[in-house]
Amino acid sequence: MFITLEGPEGSGKSMQICKLAEFIREQGFEVLTTREPGGTFIGDQIREVIMRMDNTMMHPNTEILLFCAARAQIVTEVIRPNLEKGVVVISDRYGDSTLAYQGYGHGLDLKILKEILKFATGGLKPDLTLLLDVDVDEGLKRKIKGGSEWNRLDAQKVEFHKRVRAGYKEMVQAEPDRWRVINAANDPEQVQKDIRTVILEELESHK
Ligand code: TYD
Repeated sequence: MFITLEGPEGSGKSMQICKLAEFIREQGFEVLTTREPGGTFIGDQIREVIMRMDNTMMHPNTEILLFCAARAQIVTEVIRPNLEKGVVVISDRYGDSTLAYQGYGHGLDLKILKEILKFATGGLKPDLTLLLDVDVDEGLKRKIKGGSEWNRLDAQKVEFHKRVRAGYKEMVQAEPDRWRVINAANDPEQVQKDIRTVILEELESHK
């Protein structure tokens, strides 16, 4: 089973994924967590290029291709082989991030992006995607307060992040069977509880 977590900045995805992986293991499944961009030797090098603060001249098309290049690598090297072995793979971000950030955020053509994504992933789609939804101002505040790594993409204007969040909501509406929305404004324990409820249902239906 392939699960992805998506969300705007400061939604607390990484911490929640750690606890979620533990929980799924306790249910008797083998679990692997991955993150994007990165997650492979080659992908981590691509991540550095994308995130460097001084790469301000990067063209949006270059950015898309770099994200998708890292994704092509992790899909073939890590995700597909593990899914084939029956491992539950949880990815911190996946193709929907490209649609949300580069598509809705930067206003790039969604149709073209979907074609590029299909090429990069060989058409691999998640079975379930959780949107950890949080208000943009709150999310950015949390990110600064948490002292986490501040990258070139975080530095985009608040308006950009608002378009990203609205984009996620549109994607949820377009594919309601794949998405579940979790209110990430709640305290972290409650968020984890809500995630576990959704995951248990999904694991049951996969048995
Ligand atoms: P990261 O430090 O991993 O942040 P987060 O904890 O928010 O996931 O940085 C990833 C950044 O890259 C984040 O701002 C979202 C952005 N991104 C895209 O713009 N497009 C993509 O396809 C992916 C995977 C990420």
